[in-house]
Amino acid sequence: MAKEESKTFGQTLADWKQFIYNPRSGEVLGRTASSWALILLFYLVFYGFLAGLFTFTMWVMLQTLDDNVPKYRDRVSSPGLMISPKSDSGLDIDFRRSDPKSYKAYVDALDAFLQPYNDSTQGAKNVLCTPGLYREDDESKKKACQFNRTMLGQCSGIDDTSYGYSNGTPCVIVKMNRIIGLKPEGNPSINCTSKKDDGVQLLYFPDYGKIDLMYFPYYGKKVQATYAQPLVAVKITTSNATKEGIQFECKIHGSPNLKNSDDRDKFLGRITFKVQIRD
Ligand SMILES: *[C@@H]1O[C@H](CO)[C@@H](O)[C@H](O)[C@H]1NC(C)=O
Ligand SMILES: *[C@@H]1O[C@H](CO)[C@@H](O)[C@H](O)[C@H]1NC(C)=O
Ligand SMILES: *[C@@H]1O[C@H](CO)[C@@H](O)[C@H](O)[C@H]1NC(C)=O
Ligand SMILES: *[C@@H]1O[C@H](CO)[C@@H](O)[C@H](O)[C@H]1NC(C)=O
Repeated sequence: MAKEESKTFGQTLADWKQFIYNPRSGEVLGRTASSWALILLFYLVFYGFLAGLFTFTMWVMLQTLDDNVPKYRDRVSSPGLMISPKSDSGLDIDFRRSDPKSYKAYVDALDAFLQPYNDSTQGAKNVLCTPGLYREDDESKKKACQFNRTMLGQCSGIDDTSYGYSNGTPCVIVKMNRIIGLKPEGNPSINCTSKKDDGVQLLYFPDYGKIDLMYFPYYGKKVQATYAQPLVAVKITTSNATKEGIQFECKIHGSPNLKNSDDRDKFLGRITFKVQIRD
């Protein structure tokens, strides 16, 4: 100890220099060139082997995946519902019929949402199907059924480009989320109710809020790129200009395998939203 402490700074520096490169033995950092080469070779082989193992495992796992069907899902689950227009503030629709600026965002959202449903687009990309029957398709590229914008009648935005917002009878479009392989049983339809039933009238497009079975099953984005989800539009009419917002709940009815009353998931087969129509 005493000896080392007495080393001069010059000596220490010389020792370090010698450690970094020793001209006598030709060692660099305490190893000869061939020793370094061996070490590098070892690590090269070692990490090369690890990379190979990883690649191989990944490849084996990918072989077990199907591009079209998710590998892990709990049963064929039940779809959730969503509405359009959705605003920044969530599922509240609040506007003045006399003020176009107050509902412009809703109209724009509906315009954008319905673009792919233009009759011309549907006619060009999708096929006419037989109502009431599942569309089972053996082709590798699956045809999708036409859902024309005009099927939404007064809510199609064609005759009334404000979707009813300008006269205080707004349209809300309800859609069912896509689930690959789902085949609804029975006669599914969307049915909406309001907490306040007095004077609230609902008009459905297509009639009775029906969801046709011909739009099922859905085969996935990759093989059925032009798939058009069936929609149900609801036109809301209130008899007097209601001051407070009205709460609506829309549910899937008429299909035993589509759940609509799960306590833990309030979007499963149903959706709740609020509409406030002001003068
Ligand atoms: C769809 O139709 C609307 C109104 O009919 C039109 O303004 C719009 O440009 C059309 N979009 C496409 C993509 O054809
Ligand atoms: C949708 O519109 C296209 C183009 O107008 C038409 O050829 C087709 O028959 C319509 N389909 C349905 C299901 O109404
Ligand atoms: C909606 O549900 C109510 C109550 O269950 C029922 O009276 C009504 O006929 C249903 N409407 C539609 C369009 O299915
Ligand atoms: C709302 O309409 C009902 C009948 O539809 C009517 O009796 C009532 O007076 C109206 N209320 C207002 C505030 O206009």
